[in-house]
Amino acid sequence: MNKLIILLIILLAAIQFIRPARNTSVQAVPQAFMDTFQVNENVKKLLVTSCFDCHSNHTRYPWYTNIQPVGWLMAKHIRDGKAELNFDELAALSPRRRNSKFRSITEQIEKDEMPLKSYLILHKDARLSEEDKNTLISFFQSKINKN
Ligand code: HEC
Repeated sequence: MNKLIILLIILLAAIQFIRPARNTSVQAVPQAFMDTFQVNENVKKLLVTSCFDCHSNHTRYPWYTNIQPVGWLMAKHIRDGKAELNFDELAALSPRRRNSKFRSITEQIEKDEMPLKSYLILHKDARLSEEDKNTLISFFQSKINKN
């Protein structure tokens, strides 16, 4: 067999042992955010399936995230995603910063920038329908403090 293919197989097997740390805290959802903003069940469900994997401390890990480099890619999305927006920290932000996050969230959804396209390839359930998008946009718009 071609030496290159053998080398590739060995490499692929070897990288399976390098596992990124998991992003899972004890609770299933960012509870402070849920309580502070009175998040209804419908919005909660959409955020859990489409946003919290990368923007909270509560990532769900389907089986394929155990395969490298998928797990590495996921870890990078989580690191970059949480740096921009972490729902676990939203409730503690000043009203001004919160408003700016909420505006940014509605923008990202309107422009179909989020959830990330590369994530949707495998996480098909995270796709947002027009109705889902409207539900999320009107929720976040209603939480923007106009003062
Ligand atoms: C697969 C991981 C992933 C998912 C799922 C995801 N995001 Fe993101 N998000 C990122 C990453 C990575 C960034 C930072 C880099 C970028 O902007 O592409 C980001 C950035 C953002 C930003 C900041 C954008 C800016 O430039 O100011 C907002 C707001 C955001 N996401 C909202 C959402 C919302 C709302 C959802 C759910 C509908 C969502 N994201 C789902 C990974 C994700």
